Amino acid sequence: MSSRSDLTIMRVCFIIFLLGALVELCDGGITSEYVRARGSDLPDDMPLDSDVFKVPPGPNAPQQVHITQGNHEGNGVIISWVTPSAPGSNTVRYWNENGESKKKQAEATINIYRFYNYTSGYIHHCVIDDLEFDMKYYYEIGCGKWHRRFWFFTPPKPGPDVPYTFGLIGDLGQTYDSNRTLSHYEMNPRKGQAVLFVGDLSYADRYPLHDNNRWDTWGRFVERSVAYQPWIWTAGNHEIDFVPDIGETEPFKPYKNRYHTPYKASGSISPLWYSIKRASAYIIVMSCYSSYGIYTPQYKWLAKEFERVNRTETPWLIVLIHCPFYHSYVHHYMEGETVRVMYEQWFVKYKVDVVFAGHVHAYERSERVSNIAYNIVNGLCEPISDESAPVYITIGDGGNSEGLLTDMMQPQPSYSAFREPSFGHGLLDIKNRTHAYFNWNRNQDGYSVEADSVWLLNRFWRAPEKTLVVA
Ligand SMILES: *[C@@H]1O[C@H](CO)[C@@H](O)[C@H](O)[C@H]1NC(C)=O
Ligand SMILES: *[C@@H]1O[C@H](CO)[C@@H](O)[C@H](O)[C@H]1NC(C)=O
Ligand SMILES: *[C@@H]1O[C@H](CO)[C@@H](O)[C@H](O)[C@H]1NC(C)=O
Ligand SMILES: *[C@@H]1O[C@H](CO)[C@@H](O)[C@H](O)[C@H]1NC(C)=O
Ligand SMILES: [Fe+2]
Repeated sequence: MSSRSDLTIMRVCFIIFLLGALVELCDGGITSEYVRARGSDLPDDMPLDSDVFKVPPGPNAPQQVHITQGNHEGNGVIISWVTPSAPGSNTVRYWNENGESKKKQAEATINIYRFYNYTSGYIHHCVIDDLEFDMKYYYEIGCGKWHRRFWFFTPPKPGPDVPYTFGLIGDLGQTYDSNRTLSHYEMNPRKGQAVLFVGDLSYADRYPLHDNNRWDTWGRFVERSVAYQPWIWTAGNHEIDFVPDIGETEPFKPYKNRYHTPYKASGSISPLWYSIKRASAYIIVMSCYSSYGIYTPQYKWLAKEFERVNRTETPWLIVLIHCPFYHSYVHHYMEGETVRVMYEQWFVKYKVDVVFAGHVHAYERSERVSNIAYNIVNGLCEPISDESAPVYITIGDGGNSEGLLTDMMQPQPSYSAFREPSFGHGLLDIKNRTHAYFNWNRNQDGYSVEADSVWLLNRFWRAPEKTLVVA
């Protein structure tokens, strides 16, 4: 959502409410739906002095440490961090759990960027791609007394029956609700091993001048998870940061400087769209805020990409894209239509198992449907049940400062299997080539409570007959 228009809408709503209240007063008896007046226009994020934003001790100590996958196969990692006041040490020392004596080291690149009158710290990115599969690694950054040590696990080598558990988080932001979502993810007994993040990270763009200090606080907030397990990044609209009024005309500038992706390894020309293999999954990340029409680079890349997927090696074909194709909330309704018209036919043709999206600040899971038969004159313009179609899961319910979307299209469309406006996260627990279990946890519940769950049967490997119905 664009913060400015939202604020305008909020103001207009508030005025309408006041007028309404006055009218009501004349009648006597007011039933107000109004919840709270905002003291200022600033988002109600966790305050700057919150524990989650604490700067690590030591002069110029590395902060905002985060890792993501660093190559196509999964045995590579990109380790990134920020040193606030000087370049500092640019070296990562790393070793596997059997070999503290055999420490290796690798050098990072350093970049800084400016955004209006904000200057970033020194942003380090270090690609390491000589790791063994299925191994615990330790890594150390910074030097002397103030160095910091972390660890992560590399995934097993890609293979058809390799179990693996992905977390699903979207539209996270940095409110108390965001912190609850992250805590619930961390405490979930099913234990996610990597996060598929479906876009909209910090929401720094809701502040005046897109105050990029809020990108730094977000980096410190999520470090407790993303320094230890990779988060697979998708770009959302809050990453665009296009503000020509203040001379900021390079889209995605803060995001691209801070969050690197292994896009070259999949033949992409942009960090905003790429693919990775991880265990038994092949994950395609798309950008609905980059050009995607026919003949564009993203289109051409994707056309080849689907052909490259080998379902014998990686049975699970997963797409991440910020804007959902199928959801039934009033806000953002049909925003994904133009992308859907372009790409849904490929999702069906190549039997994508599941598409995860964010953007809509709520949770929803679709039936397996498609809407690709329409050719302008045949009238076939309704979604129909389609066993080759993916399940669409909208999980933009991380808890950011824009709040939940509660208005839904009524009646619930038949393509919608389950919907609920609550904050939460998901887990995709891949068991083998045929079975994966998805569940959604809402923040109000205990860590192990599943508010929605479904067995997903792989579209490529499923038995052709009765297993059609997804429970
Ligand atoms: C940037 O400009 C804003 C508005 O003029 C001001 O409030 C802020 O202190 C400035 N920040 C820096 C780092 O100069
Ligand atoms: C965020 O959550 C963590 C873990 O549950 C907790 O220790 C911390 O105090 C919380 N911080 C805020 C500001 O809510
Ligand atoms: C697909 O992957 C399997 C298992 O790794 C391999 O045996 C097979 O040769 C691959 N097929 C192609 C077309 O590369
Ligand atoms: C795959 O996993 C499911 C769920 O755990 C199990 O019921 C099924 O037997 C497994 N298939 C094989 C071939 O092991
Ligand atoms: Fe969004």
